[in-house]
Amino acid sequence: MDHSRAPLVAAVAEYHDLGRYGFTPPGHRQGRGVDGRVLAALGADAFASDILAAPGLDDRLARGEVLSEAEELMADAVGAEAAFFSTCGSSLSVKAAMLAVAGGNDGGLLVARDSHKSIVAGLIFSGLRPRWITPRWDAERHFSHPPSPEQVEQAWREHPDAAGALIVSPSPYGTCADLRGIAEVCHARGKPLIVDEAWGAHLPFHPDLPTWAMDVGADVCVVSVHKMGMGFEQGSVFHVQGDLVDPQRLRRCADLLMTTSPNVLIYTALDGWRRQMVEFGHDLLGDALALAKRARADLDEIGGCEVMHDVLLGVEASHDLDLLQVLVDVSGTGATGYDAADWLRAHRNIDLGLSDHRRVLATLSCADDNTTVDALVDGLALWRAGLRDPSPPEIRLPAPEDLQLDTVMLPRDAFFAPTQAVPAESAAGRIAAEQLTPYPPGIPVIVPGERIDAAVVEYLRTGLAAGMNVPDASDPTLETIRVVA
Ligand SMILES: Cc1ncc(COP(=O)(O)O)c(C=O)c1O
Repeated sequence: MDHSRAPLVAAVAEYHDLGRYGFTPPGHRQGRGVDGRVLAALGADAFASDILAAPGLDDRLARGEVLSEAEELMADAVGAEAAFFSTCGSSLSVKAAMLAVAGGNDGGLLVARDSHKSIVAGLIFSGLRPRWITPRWDAERHFSHPPSPEQVEQAWREHPDAAGALIVSPSPYGTCADLRGIAEVCHARGKPLIVDEAWGAHLPFHPDLPTWAMDVGADVCVVSVHKMGMGFEQGSVFHVQGDLVDPQRLRRCADLLMTTSPNVLIYTALDGWRRQMVEFGHDLLGDALALAKRARADLDEIGGCEVMHDVLLGVEASHDLDLLQVLVDVSGTGATGYDAADWLRAHRNIDLGLSDHRRVLATLSCADDNTTVDALVDGLALWRAGLRDPSPPEIRLPAPEDLQLDTVMLPRDAFFAPTQAVPAESAAGRIAAEQLTPYPPGIPVIVPGERIDAAVVEYLRTGLAAGMNVPDASDPTLETIRVVA
């Protein structure tokens, strides 16, 4: 296909050239009606290209086929058979994929327990029965790794009637599963593999990055282009191939969840990014990887800070690692990752995507350069130099066996059951009716339908006191927890 084309980008340019005008949404009429103070803050251009998809960017019957052609180009660029754009992030795409693969199937879905909260939301919406696959667990560092093919095979042995398997890879830390091995295990049973590849949109475009799901036979994968690519927030694509998942069923499932007012800015950025990656991705990502190598070496020099690499890889760890995700263990300084992240924001105007009781994560992209990396390295070094005998509050970390809660009700049944808020101290033994998720990374510690144990309550409450963010808790203080009545 001709990848110098970018049909959505061209259609937006044409809309402006022709001076089109719509008596249609958006009511701001490309910014004319917007308060000047808003325009000053957001920039007039953002509104100028906020155009109704049809009729507007395309005609009322979408006869220009600008979206469908952009999707075909995207699929071609990444080796998928079909691609669909979506405007509500992987949070939407992954739910559509779950519904397409397992909707209406009583055998449930194999789901890695280190899944993102959007997948748990998908279980609640769909009423699907999760057949949890246990992730690998590094108890010393309190870190989970994606499941191995053997663990997936074990889950299939226990639940042969499940409709398919859903794996997150890369994790929000950049650690990756052996997708080839997992796809083989699933296909040996004629079952599809969905990969939540929210953090992997860039993977098809450089050989030194971890395996791209479509290259090793995954049936569906979903990506968030805004995370590792150059898309606007919420720009997501789902890719599909093979004959185990019907693309039309996937499209119909997505249609159930999708807005009828997709943001053209989001779609257009996806289209332009695909062209950029096909034309220049190898060089841009090669430069970004070289920069990441430099950042890793420099950050590792800071006393008490260890850039995690070898400990993340291996038989009992992850299969591969995206080196653009620079995970720094700061526990050697005596302080927490929360402290480092808060200090960098307050004193250096630098934000980090992820922090926890012992780590911070800097996500690098093609947009970074020596200046941005210098600011990060200098900032972290200054934070370190200013530390005076930190004594962070203790977080009581559960043992791996305490983290693995029993699912005793369907997540949907527990979520919609009559519920009550009970004091956290008496929540152990009760069935959770809400998900409780340290964010980021967004992996729920408690899922509705699970029987709560005292160790996870202790973990969340001591974590909260130390700086953890648990935004989905119905009681933000975690004094109480919502359980099935
Ligand atoms: C593994 C994983 N899946 C899905 C999502 C949801 O992606 P989005 O924010 O694009 O909706 C996230 C978000 O961080 C994630 O980390």
